[in-house]
Amino acid sequence: PKDVGILALEIYFPAQYVDQTDLEKYNNVGTGKYTVGLGQTRMGFCSVQEDINSLCLTVVQRLMERTKLPWDAVGRLEVGTETIIDKSKAVKTVLMELFQDSGNTDIEGIDTTNACYGGTASLFNAANWLESSSWDGRYAMVVCGDIAVYPKGNARPTGGAGAVAMLVGPNAPLVLERGLRGTHMENVYDFYKPDGASEYPMVDGKLSIQCYLRALDRCYAVYRQKTQNQYKQAGIDRPFTLDDLQFMIFHTPFCKLVQKSLARLMFNDFLSASSDTQNSLYKGLEAFRGLKLEDTYNNKDVEKAFEKASLDMFNKKTKPSLYFSTHNGNTYTSSLYGCLASLLSQRSAQDLAGSRIGAFSYGSGLAASFFSFRVSQDASPGSPLEKLVSSTSDLPKRLDSRKRMSAQEFTEVMNQREQFFHKGKERPGGGKEEAAFLRFHASG
Ligand code: ACO
Repeated sequence: PKDVGILALEIYFPAQYVDQTDLEKYNNVGTGKYTVGLGQTRMGFCSVQEDINSLCLTVVQRLMERTKLPWDAVGRLEVGTETIIDKSKAVKTVLMELFQDSGNTDIEGIDTTNACYGGTASLFNAANWLESSSWDGRYAMVVCGDIAVYPKGNARPTGGAGAVAMLVGPNAPLVLERGLRGTHMENVYDFYKPDGASEYPMVDGKLSIQCYLRALDRCYAVYRQKTQNQYKQAGIDRPFTLDDLQFMIFHTPFCKLVQKSLARLMFNDFLSASSDTQNSLYKGLEAFRGLKLEDTYNNKDVEKAFEKASLDMFNKKTKPSLYFSTHNGNTYTSSLYGCLASLLSQRSAQDLAGSRIGAFSYGSGLAASFFSFRVSQDASPGSPLEKLVSSTSDLPKRLDSRKRMSAQEFTEVMNQREQFFHKGKERPGGGKEEAAFLRFHASG
């Protein structure tokens, strides 16, 4: 099949949020620490009644309603999540409940887990299936979602919750570029969940940020090399730089890290540029010549200088993709795809047509990839691109219609979830899954 990629997309987030300025006061940290220091304005959170099954059931139901496809049009369903509800049973099997009436049980795919990377692994699996001999002509669906919660302390304001479902197939308006994936994987313990009795991860925040940036450097180098090889085959001999990407989206633990990450990519471009190019295109940055990437993870001078130098680029290429993350927080596996939805909601089909969107996915532990989408040229009314873009246009309005809860109420819900999580474990079997399904149906 030609032009395999994303045809339609649906995003779900909880109905309540806590304002980060309220959290700053409640936690007695300096004014601006979460809103300016981390770049977060609001954080969505789940009520005690919601779990990962209910989030994913809702987002799949809504995507199917939006696309008006029959339930037997889906031949593969992949779920990426790190919100473990059962040590054996996959969320995918729970979602099969939705397909039951159609009689469609012939659906490949199952859950994929590694921190925030599962959504991207699922998307790659879906695209690989479509391009393989196993493909049976039907659509694939990718579902990713998480409830990101942290114990009281510095990490708590970087939580969030949400889910994204994507329809993947041929002739897509957002095409996954073939042969252009740069991956970096290694064994580290920056963020992990060894305690099955707790919803919270163990996290070494500073280490996780360093791992994220290192993975970004490595993935970008591989992606750039592969792109240049493709250019060469097409008779073009020039280096790949950020100029070749009209938009750049990132896995977003918190928005400030993403701004630093775009700056980091510019630093990568700078270091690999010829000295002539360094002189002409990177004025005022001469002092940073000859540095090695691996020596600069804690170098504040590099960070600040390139943040400043890349500010215009950040506002153009990346800021529109952060609308959802700043208003809802980290959603782990779906974070990157929430950024994609935001970008579509903040730009017109005409602005996006023909562009290339770079994407960086990171999951602690760690697994990371840099890849890209090519946006179709046709932005005319009724075109697949125009439909996809207009389907996301109500995102700001939907985020605004959530209920604001106080920091005290948020904390009480977190405390209740801690108790509920233990109770769930005392009731093994179908009870919890069934409850999620009933709640989903009760709420429509
Ligand atoms: N006004 C403005 N900025 C402030 C203020 C203030 N009053 N106070 C502090 N800041 C700034 C700091 O200068 C710092 O910015 P800088 O890094 O640009 O210098 C920023 O706010 C954060 O403050 P710190 O004290 O450095 O960090 P903190 O101890 O609050 O922890 C962290 C932040 C590490 C992100 C924590 O929230 C965490 O562990 N989160 C979870 C892990 C995470 O998200 N990792 C990312 C990749 S892995 C993943 O996706 C889960």
